[in-house]
Amino acid sequence: MKCKYHTRIKHKFLGDYLSIWLKGVSGKVSLDYVDLFASDGVCELDAELETPLIWDGSALLAVKMSKEYKNSWTCYLNELDPTTCNELQNNLKK
Ligand SMILES: C[S@@+](CC[C@H](N)C(=O)[O-])C[C@H]1O[C@@H](n2cnc3c(N)ncnc32)[C@H](O)[C@@H]1O
Repeated sequence: MKCKYHTRIKHKFLGDYLSIWLKGVSGKVSLDYVDLFASDGVCELDAELETPLIWDGSALLAVKMSKEYKNSWTCYLNELDPTTCNELQNNLKK
């Protein structure tokens, strides 16, 4: 997915917030993560302004972090566009 720089910042905040669950809550409760607009899980900056140019979108970010969680962390990922949904499934397999 082509992204603007503000999306990179959004994912920085999301990653920092989710890491609170990993490090602070540390598996004391189970977690359900719902992403209603998941997209394909991979972001690419649409201008060469900053690095990195490619990073994990919200869906991949949450799924990767869920693997490290010490309790149940279920990710529900919803995507309307079938092509984008297939890309998300392929990116999750990687
Ligand atoms: C801006 S992208 C989402 C970005 C992603 N949440 C992230 O932060 O990495 C928006 C996505 O929502 C999808 N979408 C739009 N309307 C939708 C709907 N009604 N239900 C599910 N997905 C939808 C689009 O196909 C697109 O892939």
